[in-house]
Amino acid sequence: MINVLKSYNELSSTVADIVETQIKEHPLSKLALPTGSTPLGMYDELVNRKLDWKSVITFNLDVYLMNINLPQSYQSYMRKNLFDRTNIYPDNSHFPFRPFSGFEDKIEGSKGIDLCILGIGTNGHIAFNEPGSSFKTRTRVVNLSEQTIKDNSRFFDSIEDVPTQAITMGLGTIMESKKIILIASGDHKLNILNVAMNGEVTKTVPASILQRHKDIEIYYCD
Ligand code: PGA
Repeated sequence: MINVLKSYNELSSTVADIVETQIKEHPLSKLALPTGSTPLGMYDELVNRKLDWKSVITFNLDVYLMNINLPQSYQSYMRKNLFDRTNIYPDNSHFPFRPFSGFEDKIEGSKGIDLCILGIGTNGHIAFNEPGSSFKTRTRVVNLSEQTIKDNSRFFDSIEDVPTQAITMGLGTIMESKKIILIASGDHKLNILNVAMNGEVTKTVPASILQRHKDIEIYYCD
């Protein structure tokens, strides 16, 4: 079921409440974290709540293959919007890295992800698992779809500057999370959200696999 909220502020505070409860009840929580426009309000909320992040372990869902020191990298995004504004330990915040088996082992060695926060692309991707991705995929390098490059060009000076490749957690990796929260904001996301959550479970719409997760909550605002 899609929970429709009245405003972006409500979406952000509702999801921040879920993260806050998770961290307070389980200080050693393992979180999978998204980037992009949608979670910005949630990160602001979390920072303002001055939570104790010192035992929390985070795994980012994906990274562009690009210079990580540029402002558009997801490493820069996370530093700016969360890590530099909390007491999280740098050693506890992980981005997908090579060898990918090492990254997967780190997740599994930490006994898996407790809470995974996801956005959804207008083409139905989750993390950077683009249409056509197998439901069994693990962390790997992917080519970004034309739609994703176009959608994300708003963060770059020109579309030519958007990286064409990324490293993403796989759909198999994501589905092993104990709990998943999917967030989407804006009219342009409503159709794909409905298709993914109420339509056929198909590789053409990667987010549709989430219908098979037993602990998923979906939050939307227009
Ligand atoms: P957005 O990206 O939050 O910037 O819309 C979501 C996504 O592509 O997963």
